Amino acid sequence: MTLQNNYLHDVREQYEHLPYPPRDPQDESKRLITTWLDDLPMINHYCYAGRQSFRNGFRALVAGGGTGDGTIYLAEQLRNTGAEIVHIDLSAASIEIAQRRAQVRGLANVRWLHGSLLDLPDLDVGEFDYINCSGVLHHLADPNAGLAALLKVKKASGALGVMVYGQYGRTGIYQMQELLRLINRTTAEPAEKLATAKEVLKTLPPSNWFRRGQDLHRDHLVFGDSGLYDLLLHSQDRAYTVEEIFRWFSDGYGLHLQFTDVGRGRSSYMPDMLVGPHSPGFLADVCARPLREQYAVAELLSGALTMHSFFATQSAANVAPYGDAEQIPFFFHEPVTGPQLSALIHKSKVAPFVFNHAHTGITKAVDQGKFGKFILKYIDGKRPFADVFALVRAEDQFKRSPPGDTELFADFQPLYDFLNAIDRLLLQHPSAAG
Ligand SMILES: C[S@@+](CC[C@H](N)C(=O)[O-])C[C@H]1O[C@@H](n2cnc3c(N)ncnc32)[C@H](O)[C@@H]1O
Repeated sequence: MTLQNNYLHDVREQYEHLPYPPRDPQDESKRLITTWLDDLPMINHYCYAGRQSFRNGFRALVAGGGTGDGTIYLAEQLRNTGAEIVHIDLSAASIEIAQRRAQVRGLANVRWLHGSLLDLPDLDVGEFDYINCSGVLHHLADPNAGLAALLKVKKASGALGVMVYGQYGRTGIYQMQELLRLINRTTAEPAEKLATAKEVLKTLPPSNWFRRGQDLHRDHLVFGDSGLYDLLLHSQDRAYTVEEIFRWFSDGYGLHLQFTDVGRGRSSYMPDMLVGPHSPGFLADVCARPLREQYAVAELLSGALTMHSFFATQSAANVAPYGDAEQIPFFFHEPVTGPQLSALIHKSKVAPFVFNHAHTGITKAVDQGKFGKFILKYIDGKRPFADVFALVRAEDQFKRSPPGDTELFADFQPLYDFLNAIDRLLLQHPSAAG
């Protein structure tokens, strides 16, 4: 395919010379890199109401796929399913790395396109069930034109997994970008710009905002020159508040958004998850506001959201419904089991139960209900709620007046809401179970 002119020259140059993230294809024989938005169980829960089997000729597009992290992870999970993954990127150097990674893994389910995602509607590539576009739209001259192009090749029933930069969390980065533009005003040479940036980083006074927020930014430390250039010397880079994303995707295109911060799920957008176990006075009022206002409060309260990751689907009905006894609950993202959690709650003897969640750093008091520890005990990732509940009803102490499904769902709701908000407890319908 010939590359049209539908892209920014400087952006392409950057990723031809400094593919991002830098990856050594040989590492594929040692480890698999997973990407938060591309876990099939997450896509199933948030985009397909838990009912996607991924075995009916599933088609995924990775737009601006770079050196292949999302593509390789999707292709690996979809191996031998009849699925096709299409990887498109502006940078031939990045595609080559991604292709070599696929070769090392023996993956043959990826189609490679060298081009601009803005041209997708004219490329005769068909329509897609899932489109990953991570860290790309904010590098386009017109990000909305990029989104419009993606929506044209998305199936009506399909979904997007998007990551764009977060404005407040990147405050220090934009000050550094501005500073380096000023200092580098007399050179257009990438190597010189990089050398100056390294000098500047070494001499930052403690008052500097980038230095104050250095625990938020790691690209320049872990990804060498590629990371440094991408973070501080990019020629086209903008960021969004969560409210701007709602206006763009929801108001503009009627899409339903499900935010899921890497490692933390939507808890990063929930004020009550950020303030610790003791509810401050303002919380009840804030938590009664529309979701999107709560998210705006949480974003400012935290200040640490450097990126926004989210699924965009046709409607809220795309999310697996809590309250359907056919759905199978299962633990994900952490090797914790239902019986282990049940035992923890059983031991604590304190109500409400206080979660001290190490991975997210969240401390939160959660009402464990009357049946919570019994329900958890029977969650094994195979039983639907109906079977879990039947086992609870058969417990000696509940036999005499067994609780119905409605009562059990209501009782377990706070625990489900907490565990689901951190994306540790998800749902799958038996029709999709492999
Ligand atoms: C920051 S990297 C992200 C790569 C990948 N999505 C990931 O998360 O690892 C941005 C990528 O977008 C690509 N890109 C930028 N503008 C593009 C366009 N108009 N069409 C296709 N790819 C583009 C760049 O070449 C680069 O590989």
